[in-house]
Amino acid sequence: MTEENKFSMNQDILILAIESSCDETAAAVVKNGREVCSNIIASQISLHTLYGGVVPEIASRKHIEKINQVIEEALSEAGYALQDMDAIAVTYGPGLVGALLVGVSEAKAISFATGIPLVGVHHIEGHISANYIENKELEPPFICLVASGGHSHLVEVKDYGKYEIIGRTRDDAAGEAFDKVARAIGLGYPGGPKIDRAAKEGNPQAIHFPRARVEDNDYDFSFSGLKSAVLNYINGCQMKGETIPVADIAASFQQAVVEVLTEHSLRAVRQYGYDKFAIAGGVASNSALRAALQTGCEKQKIRFYYPSPILCTDNAAMIGAAGYYEFIKGVRSGLDLNAVPNLKLGEG
Ligand code: KG4
Ligand code: ZN
Repeated sequence: MTEENKFSMNQDILILAIESSCDETAAAVVKNGREVCSNIIASQISLHTLYGGVVPEIASRKHIEKINQVIEEALSEAGYALQDMDAIAVTYGPGLVGALLVGVSEAKAISFATGIPLVGVHHIEGHISANYIENKELEPPFICLVASGGHSHLVEVKDYGKYEIIGRTRDDAAGEAFDKVARAIGLGYPGGPKIDRAAKEGNPQAIHFPRARVEDNDYDFSFSGLKSAVLNYINGCQMKGETIPVADIAASFQQAVVEVLTEHSLRAVRQYGYDKFAIAGGVASNSALRAALQTGCEKQKIRFYYPSPILCTDNAAMIGAAGYYEFIKGVRSGLDLNAVPNLKLGEG
C-alpha cells in the first residue's frame, strides 16, 4: 500500500526507532507516535563505571555488538516484522560521533535493503517528545526544560518539530555537574541517580552553594561555578582533616541545581504566557526537581508534564515519537544522512 493510501485510510503508522548517541543502545517500535509497542535498552553503564565516565571508543564498539540484537528484540516483543514498519527513525545528532554513526549506518542499511523510508531525528527533539507518550492530551505549544548529561536547554515548543531555544547552559550541563560532583564525593558514575539517593539522607540547607545568575540572558544557566564551589568545599574538609559530609554535600548541591532550574523554568512559562510546562532528559528523573516543579506549577496553575524515569534517560521510544511527527509532515532522510555530533535544535 502506498504511503498516501495509508494516510488517507487512517491506518496505523509504525515506526522502528534507533538510538545510539551515547552509552545506551536502544530500539523501539512506536505506533502512531504515542503508543510504545516495545522499548529495548541495552545500557553500557556498568562498562563505563570502571572508567568513571563514558569512553567514546568503548561506547561505539559496544553499540556495534548490540545493535542487531536490540532491533530484533524490539520487533519481536512488539510482534511485528521489519516489513510492517512504515519508517525507520534514527538519532543522527547531537552526541558522540562514533556512537551516532553505528545507529545511523544501521538505519541506512535497513532502509536501503527494504525500501522503508528513513527519518533522521534530533536527540533533543526525542527527549522533548518523550512527554507525548504518557500524556496523550499534551500538544504544543508549551515550554520544556531539557536537562541531560550533555544539555540544559529551556525550549519554547511552538509546534511539532518547531523549537526556539530561550535559555541554555554557558558551561556544564546540569547532568554533567551531577556526574562531576558525584565523582568528587566518591559516589561514582552515573552521578545523577547516586546523588539523588544520597541527598535523601542529607540536609539541603547544610551548606550554601552559589546559585549563578548569567548577566545578559536571564534564562541561561551556568553550573561550573557551583561545581567549583563543591570541589573547594571538599578540599577545605580534606585540609582540615575532616570527613567529607557526603549526604549533606549531595543534598545541598542538588538543592542549588533544583532551585535554579525551577526558578528559570517557571519564570519562562509565566513570561511567555503559557499554562503548560514539560521536563525531559536524564536529570528530569531527579526526585527533588520533580517535587519542586510540581509544587511550583500547582501554585501558579501551570499544567506540569513529565515522562516516567525510563523515558527521561536515553531510549528509542522517544525517537519513535519524534520521528512520527517528522514522518507525517513528510520529512524523509536520504542515504547520505550523516552523524552530526553538534547538531543544533531547529537545524534540518
Ligand atoms: O538524557 P540522558 O540519559 O543522556 C544524555 O542525553 O545526556 O542523561 C544522562 C544524565 C547523566 O548526567 C545522569 O547523571 C543524569 O542524566 N541523571 C540524573 C538522574 N538520573 C540521570 N541526574 C539527576 N538525578 C537523577 N535521578
Ligand atoms: Zn539524551
